[in-house]
This record gives sequence, C-alpha cells and structure tokens, in this order.
Amino acid sequence: MRALPIAVAILGLTLASCGKPSDEGQSSEPASASETTEAAEPVELTDAQKAALVAELPAPYNGGDIAHGKQLFAVCKACHTLVQGGANMTGPNLWGVFGRKAGSVAGFNYSDGMKAAAFTWDAAQLDKWIEKPSAMIEGTKMTYAGMKDAKDRIDVIAYMKSETSAPK
Ligand code: HEC
Repeated sequence: MRALPIAVAILGLTLASCGKPSDEGQSSEPASASETTEAAEPVELTDAQKAALVAELPAPYNGGDIAHGKQLFAVCKACHTLVQGGANMTGPNLWGVFGRKAGSVAGFNYSDGMKAAAFTWDAAQLDKWIEKPSAMIEGTKMTYAGMKDAKDRIDVIAYMKSETSAPK
C-alpha cells in the first residue's frame, strides 16, 4: 500500500521529464515561426504615416475616412489583395495602384477592355471605376455592380491609398 504513492510519484516524474522536451519544442516553434512571418510581412504603417499618404491625395479624397474605407473595402477583399507582393485572386493585386497604368499587373489575365485601357489610376479614375466598373470599361471582368454613395467612395479611396503605397 505504501509503494503506491511512490510509484505514482515516479510515474509523475517520468511523465513530467518526458513531456518537457516536447513542450519546449512546441513553445519555441510558434515563437520562431511568428518571428519569421513578421520579418517577411510588409511593414504595417503607423497611423501617422497612413494619414500622411492620404493627405497627398487631392480634395476631396484627402478628407477620406480610412477606418470607414476599411469597412467598405471588405467587399473588395473577396477578390483583391492590397499588400506588396500579394497574390492575384479573382482580381489583380492592388499594391501600388496609384500611378499605375490600368491593366498592367504581370500575370493577371485582364479583360480585353482593360488590356486596351490607356490611362493611369489616380483618385478620380478610381472614383469613376468604383462607382460603376462596367460604365468605365465595357466587358470588364470585375463583376461588381458599383458603390453609389460618393462619400463612401472617397473613404474607400483614402483607405486604398493608405494600404497600397510605400511611406515617404
Ligand atoms: C467579384 C470580384 C471583384 C470584386 C468584388 C471587386 N473586384 Fe476589382 N477587379 C476584379 C477583376 C476581375 C478585375 C480585372 C477587371 C478586368 O480585367 O476587366 C478588377 C480590377 C480592379 C481594378 C483595376 C486594377 C488594375 O490593375 O488595373 C481596381 C482598381 C479594382 N478592381 C478595385 C476594386 C475595388 C476598390 C473594389 C471594391 C469596391 C473591387 N475592385 C471589387 C474583381 C473584383
């Protein structure tokens, strides 16, 4: 009867010592993995850097509400990534879209209308596009009906500027 608590204690010690190396392995793995992901991920800009980028836009876009634009962009996110080096999904990656020629992301299969487009994206062009893509480029592959509210479009454009541009 007396041997039992000792046996339990030994068992406990054995389990504890066995568990230790694998516990350490588990806890060190996610830590180092998150460090490497952080290093590989594009740098998240500070709020001040984002505001400075939005301030570069002409009026009325420079008055856009980034936080509201982010909420509105949720619908666009189904088809677009914003980060540098982000994947093309149903729609092309939008990093660097301001100042970029329309239809020019390498490896993305644009509609014929978009391939033929000869303009560069700026806030005003984006406004027109988001309001009603099919009215701007006939036969576009962007199956998004459009955003009717002008203030909403300003906010989305401000958000896009803050997420797709390198800080100054
Ligand atoms: C259902 C998927 C889908 C949704 C939702 C969508 N897009 Fe697109 N987007 C596309 C596709 C596809 C194209 C390419 C259009 C073409 O080739 O005609 C595109 C093109 C674009 C372009 C031009 C990119 C370039 O390289 O010239 C911009 C800018 C853009 N989308 C912004 C937006 C914004 C902002 C929203 C949300 C308000 C949005 N998109 C919602 C699929 C989508």
